[in-house]
Amino acid sequence: MAKLLDVKNLKTYFYTDDGVATAVDDVSYDVDKGDTLGLVGESGCGKSVSALSIMRLIPDPPGKIVGGEILLKGRDLLKISEKEMRDIRGNDIGMIFQEPMTSLNPVFTCGNQIEEVLILHQKLTKAEAKEKAIESLNLVGIPAPEQRYHEYPHQLSGGMRQRVMISMALACNPEILIADEPSTALDVTVQAQILELINKLQQELGMGVIIITHDLGVIAEVSKRVAVMYASKIVEYGDVYAIFENPKHPYTIGLLSSIPNINKRKSRLSTIEGSVPFPTNFPAGCHFCTRCKFADEKCWNEEPIVVNISSNHTAACWKLDEVEAKRKLITSA
Ligand SMILES: Nc1ncnc2c1ncn2[C@@H]1O[C@H](COP(=O)(O)OP(=O)(O)O)[C@@H](O)[C@H]1O
Ligand code: SF4
Ligand SMILES: [Mg+2]
Repeated sequence: MAKLLDVKNLKTYFYTDDGVATAVDDVSYDVDKGDTLGLVGESGCGKSVSALSIMRLIPDPPGKIVGGEILLKGRDLLKISEKEMRDIRGNDIGMIFQEPMTSLNPVFTCGNQIEEVLILHQKLTKAEAKEKAIESLNLVGIPAPEQRYHEYPHQLSGGMRQRVMISMALACNPEILIADEPSTALDVTVQAQILELINKLQQELGMGVIIITHDLGVIAEVSKRVAVMYASKIVEYGDVYAIFENPKHPYTIGLLSSIPNINKRKSRLSTIEGSVPFPTNFPAGCHFCTRCKFADEKCWNEEPIVVNISSNHTAACWKLDEVEAKRKLITSA
């Protein structure tokens, strides 16, 4: 059976004055019904661009999807017309956007904005849409939904606004929800509530969920599987247990060590110094080599191949044995 969503070898580039920015380069990940995939990596690694590619919302120019497949139940979204794609957005795939471009409009009430989605995608009448909008505000745990329906976004707290955005993404009962940094701007307590809500809705509605975050702590809360993205590539991929208990890639190990309550022991291996290079300027070999303590000449010149660690765990690094030996040494010390 075809996967619910199967992203294969996706390449999304931006043709800028400074050269070609290979923002997403040969990226593959998938999500099935009832599954939650966490896509994690620092800012600038290509997470949002990969999600916007799934929605075919990459600004062109300067952006272009130059390779790969995005299969929704086996159907390649890169091969369908714009009109067919408009039906898919909202109806099949709901997205909570990191950037407010498609988020709440300050001049319309929350109710109107949800209704608009319903009228556009489900051809409901105004009265039916109103009823459904209130229902969906209720679904995401907004108290007094009839009243909130008439309120403008600025009248709501950050957490409530995020709930409205989730309800817009879910208004048409999509099979897939993509949540791009859904809790980043919120304080810790509200962040936990939003993640709990996404978890609850995922279980109740049986959707496939992709959660994008720069914070592995968020992944631990919600995901079953994790794709670690660094500088346009997936560097490690596996179930959440494998990634947390047995991380293999130096980048994943570095990310994990930055979660305060997981990493009780700071080590030389654990800090990731430096920053993500800009995508017009990635090294020829492993993109992590500018920051990796293990990097040698091969790393600089040859792109690492993906190694199967187990049936549900892969990592792309030339020096897995050496990294593993060092990690064991440190964790047993
Ligand atoms: N419209 C654009 N033009 C040029 N570069 C872009 C554009 N949008 C994104 N990028 C670049 O693509 C890279 C990946 O961005 P993004 O996917 O937003 O990262 P993340 O979501 O992981 O923080 C960044 O280096 C960003 O500057
Ligand atoms: S391939 Fe080399 S540079 Fe890249 S993560 Fe592995 S050891 Fe570090
Ligand atoms: Mg982003």
